[in-house]
Amino acid sequence: MLSLLVLHGPNLNLLGKREPGIYGVQTLESINALLTEAAQDLSVDLDIFQSNHEGALVDWIQGAWGHHQGILINPGAYTHTSVAIRDAIAGVGLPTVEVHLSNIYQRESFRHHSYIAPVAIGQVSGFGAESYRLGLQALVGHVRSRSDQP
Ligand code: DQA
Repeated sequence: MLSLLVLHGPNLNLLGKREPGIYGVQTLESINALLTEAAQDLSVDLDIFQSNHEGALVDWIQGAWGHHQGILINPGAYTHTSVAIRDAIAGVGLPTVEVHLSNIYQRESFRHHSYIAPVAIGQVSGFGAESYRLGLQALVGHVRSRSDQP
């Protein structure tokens, strides 16, 4: 069975309370439940982590090598700052989909640049919690189209 790593970056643990006008009222737990259900329908395993720390996210990405076949990541604010997360994704060479709840291109100009996008197979931005489900479907489709694994 395919095994994928899901990473949530800084401040996403505050979802539900955090700027609900931008990020919605769904908590991280409910997004993880949505992902777990979608993963069952797609017959894939997920390991899901959240951290406010850049180095922890880098460690998990490095640890995915040999254990997971793809990465779904919402890097939060590190999207716009982190060469280290970008290099970790490029380093492990695993197909990675970048997701954002909000449409980062409709917001402040500092959010318009992503260090992650050039090393991701694609990005889903602006659909709230649905961005994660769409990103998961796209990642699974991409990995399956390139492997013999069901
Ligand atoms: C975010 C967008 C980022 O700009 C922001 O820093 C976040 C959340 C999103 O999911 O919309 O923390 O990644």
